Amino acid sequence: MKHDAYIRGLGFYVPEKVLTNADLEALVETTDEWITTRTGIRERHIAAPGETTSDLGLHAARAALADAGMDADELTHILVCTLTPDFYCPPAACLLEEKLGIRGKFAQDLNAACSGFVYGLETARAILALHPQAKVLVCAAEVLTSRTNWADRRTCVLFGDGAGAAVLSAEPAPGAARLVDARLYSDGSLGQLLTVKGGGSAYPMKLGDVVDENFFVQMAGQEVFKHAVRNMTAVCEEVLAASGATTAEVDFLVPHQANLRIIDAVAKKLSIPEERCVVTIDRYGNSSASSVAIALAEAKNTGRIVPGSKVLLAVFGGGFTWGSALIQF
Ligand code: ACO
Repeated sequence: MKHDAYIRGLGFYVPEKVLTNADLEALVETTDEWITTRTGIRERHIAAPGETTSDLGLHAARAALADAGMDADELTHILVCTLTPDFYCPPAACLLEEKLGIRGKFAQDLNAACSGFVYGLETARAILALHPQAKVLVCAAEVLTSRTNWADRRTCVLFGDGAGAAVLSAEPAPGAARLVDARLYSDGSLGQLLTVKGGGSAYPMKLGDVVDENFFVQMAGQEVFKHAVRNMTAVCEEVLAASGATTAEVDFLVPHQANLRIIDAVAKKLSIPEERCVVTIDRYGNSSASSVAIALAEAKNTGRIVPGSKVLLAVFGGGFTWGSALIQF
């Protein structure tokens, strides 16, 4: 049985402070030329001291609610997709609920690393199948720089902070986009290729411990790269085939923004030309779960995505996790 879910509103937020490649040249042994040619990143936005994941999420959530023409209190469910919550406990979703000035909602964090937003959309679809009257906020928010090792040039040049949000309901409304289908996967056997270990139960800390590199993102970059290209391409093809659509009908591919070379490789394998690919990595870097949500909301805000647009999302991240969703605007 097919259950419909509609995206009623989208919004995003990036913090004010911009960190350029030139700024990073002063921090680690790197160059603007290396970062630009290897990743496509020119600058990224980073949270101010004290600015947390739920703070960024609040801005994005408010923007999505405004786009949907809804009040926060109309929400029934709040999902925060993040691997960098404010705390282990309380969940960022509860903090966001409080900051939105509402209470008594279903609030839950969801960690699917960089794939979090599409996992969140599919979870929202499942919630709506069970509770057709629900209004679900899916907010992908990250302060990835809180888990960035600023002494490691292989990773610190990659990440940025930000948040993107969507409000979903089971019934259509003027301007709403239909979530046509989504497919999500994971492979835990490859989990050690991309980790943030420190503080977890397998890597506990005790009073007085010094934070080491395990506290931060560690990654076997080239391995991640290969799997990202292969899996994002395959899952996009699967979603399109299941929906009876072709890549020629896709108006925009909105991929996870991890590396411009990964985006180009996936687009090329899918035969989607550059001009139909949404790229924000040059300005925002890799903001993990938020990246695809930010790219989607920005493309709508700037009028690139319009009513009638068929949009294909593609994500990949730690776990490994990956997935794709087809959205009909
Ligand atoms: N500046 C200058 N040189 C550098 C830098 C830097 N910032 N970083 C690495 N190098 C050097 C390396 O030390 C190495 O030098 P060597 O040959 O003398 O040893 C050389 O550049 C090549 O390094 P590689 O790691 O092989 O570079 P590569 O081309 O693979 O690019 C990168 C690295 C950008 C990380 C790439 O592998 C990548 O994007 N991988 C995928 C990342 C991804 O998709 N992540 C997804 C999820 S992220 C998440 O979930 C949080």
